[in-house]
Amino acid sequence: MQKIFVNDIIAKKGVEPIVCITAYDYPTARSVDDAGVDLVLIGDSVAMVVQGRENTLSVTVDEMVYHTEIVSRATERAFVVADMPFMSYQASIEEGLYNAGRLVKEGGAAAVKYEGAVNRTLDTIRATIEAGIPVLGHVGYTPQSLNIFGKNIIRGKDSNGAHLIVEQAIALEEAGCFGIVLEMVPRELSALITNIVNIPTIGIGSGPECDGQIIVWHDLLGSYFGYSPKFVRALADLKGIAAKAVNEYADLVRKRDYPDAGESVSLDDEMKREISELEEEFKR
Ligand code: KIV
Repeated sequence: MQKIFVNDIIAKKGVEPIVCITAYDYPTARSVDDAGVDLVLIGDSVAMVVQGRENTLSVTVDEMVYHTEIVSRATERAFVVADMPFMSYQASIEEGLYNAGRLVKEGGAAAVKYEGAVNRTLDTIRATIEAGIPVLGHVGYTPQSLNIFGKNIIRGKDSNGAHLIVEQAIALEEAGCFGIVLEMVPRELSALITNIVNIPTIGIGSGPECDGQIIVWHDLLGSYFGYSPKFVRALADLKGIAAKAVNEYADLVRKRDYPDAGESVSLDDEMKREISELEEEFKR
């Protein structure tokens, strides 16, 4: 099993689609890695799909470090990228650098992802790369800005919006990012960006022309209890499977059909005799 490095991800552009998925815990990361995905992201989406929060804003650096450490430990092959959570990098370059360092030193990530491409973030991205940490950019819909975007989730639908996303993608490439996530960007615009930048584009809800695709594990497996957008294709129904198994278990327990003899430990004959004497002794 050959470990994937940042150069391998870049080299896939124009050669083969890059397969990316999120993971937040050990069994998920093992499954993802064993299946041979190229890149695993510990997304700040952990706030919604694991912690049951309404959006990603509340997740902390400590929580991201916690999940990143677990996923990194479970991953032998895939390239591990950790999300920089909301307000872990917006205040200053130093803070961003310090928090990116934590995700690598304590979490074991090989790279970090920043949302957006405003000047301050670009400066922090440059400083992070200078410090030796590869950076994945993220433009289009950036959920950490949901209070600015409101209901306008699809980005780049009009002329100004389209120009802005193209400029942001070029700025991220020039800042040194090894790739760019394009979230909820119309496919024609994603195709254009994919053609004009020399680094891979990773799409989520952004059409098939991107160099790779990323999806949230819980969306793919049908185990998210919240709203799933139209681009999500659930290839399993884990919620349904779990409900069926738990109902069956409850039934068995109520009927005393679980555990059976084979699933219990029994005493030898001598101890059985001793136990029946005890029963006599303690009878009330
Ligand atoms: O947090 C996340 O899961 C993400 C992606 C799905 C791109 O940022």
